[in-house]
Amino acid sequence: MEKYVIHGGQPLHGRVEISGAKNAAVAIIPAALMVRGVCRLENLPQISDVDTQLRILTYMGAKVKMINPSTMELDCTNVQIDNLPEEMWELTRRIRASYYLIGAMLGRFGEAYSTMPGGCNFGVRPIDQHVKGLTALGAEVDVSGGFINARAKTGRLKGTTIYLDKVSVGATVNIMIAAATAEGRTVIENVAREPHIVDLANFLNSMGADVRGAGTDVIKIRGVKHLHGGTYALIPDQIEAGTYMAAVAACGGSVQVANVIPKHLECISSKLREMNVQVEEGDDFVLVSREGMLRHTNVKTMPYPGFPTDMQPQICAVLCCAPGVSVVTEGVWDSRYKYVAELKKMGAQIQVEDQAAFIQGVGHLTGATVKACDLRAGAAVVVAGLAAHGVTKVEDIFYIERGYENLVGKLQALGADIRCIDEPETPSARGPVRWAVI
Ligand code: UD1
Repeated sequence: MEKYVIHGGQPLHGRVEISGAKNAAVAIIPAALMVRGVCRLENLPQISDVDTQLRILTYMGAKVKMINPSTMELDCTNVQIDNLPEEMWELTRRIRASYYLIGAMLGRFGEAYSTMPGGCNFGVRPIDQHVKGLTALGAEVDVSGGFINARAKTGRLKGTTIYLDKVSVGATVNIMIAAATAEGRTVIENVAREPHIVDLANFLNSMGADVRGAGTDVIKIRGVKHLHGGTYALIPDQIEAGTYMAAVAACGGSVQVANVIPKHLECISSKLREMNVQVEEGDDFVLVSREGMLRHTNVKTMPYPGFPTDMQPQICAVLCCAPGVSVVTEGVWDSRYKYVAELKKMGAQIQVEDQAAFIQGVGHLTGATVKACDLRAGAAVVVAGLAAHGVTKVEDIFYIERGYENLVGKLQALGADIRCIDEPETPSARGPVRWAVI
């Protein structure tokens, strides 16, 4: 079993280059299913979620040509959705963003089916707003038996006005994709404003769509008949950048976090400044440094431009080392604190009550064997391990590799003592030893 081994306590120094945004990539790749022609996608992150999505599209007949590790040509001209193999459904069950196939298939073929999506488990993850939006566009949607089936009643979706009852990234993405080729005009109100929503709109527009207002809370789309090929470079990953910023905050040192859009990081930068971390903005980098003691603070997660829920576990890990009491409140998900048990193994003092975590800062954390409970929970225990005294072993790192490109290499370049090792499972981890019957 592969795991990370971290000898913590070193300050971080140097420069780290941020990869393309995971959540933009996992929306744009399925959206490319709508394109008749070649999409050249640049600045793609090399992560397992992207790999999984490309494999899914390949089962449908897409042609994928890698130009270099972060640039790819994707040709969905001849995709089809009949008799897709069971191996493909195994992949769609693994990741959250597979439900974007529904919007894309509906837009391209007027019918769609997929499995219910997988992804990180932080409580109930309903899809009622996706269903509401696609139904309003004229689809019949059936969710049962672990599958989603949808069909445009008149063969092609029809534009309309949709109000989302909840600000949802996923529903905004799915409806935008489906509406791009719907007949007439679609207005989506109370939408998510995350940077990857804007990135998806820019991608669709560069392939011939007419999407306006992304980044505000109303998106207006004039449907076009077809999308055509083109070239598009993805934005850098806000959360990957924020994770390295959190790592510097926890360990001390000084790091240039490069290839970022500083505006996307403002919600994170201002919290770190409250915690006595210096953050200077350049055109496409932020310089993060900490020399003095961390200061405690309070954080509440909210949809963009609020503090991102996907940075909540990492910021908790940092606050564990800040003297005094910090309160972190989760404002997006019902519960997202499974990783707290892991941080406690490292000496953290955290009490969770409903959606709030009360953190009593300790002098320092101590290395332990911990698990990545999900993608960002995994990032949090890595941040904690980098700052902790002693050795931390992080298990179940496949979660982390869903969303972080070359985490170990990038941290090593900053002076961290982290390695990925392949250690056989201990008998107790495998269950009771079974003696051979001679
Ligand atoms: C996306 C991100 C995820 C991030 C989340 C919030 C991707 C692939 N994943 O997830 O990393 O944590 O945004 O920033 O981009 N909700 C409903 N009904 C729905 C849909 C959502 O009630 O139909 C609720 C959810 O339970 C949650 C909130 O809305 O409380 C936000 O969820 P949403 O923005 O949809 O998250 P995802 O798109 O799944």
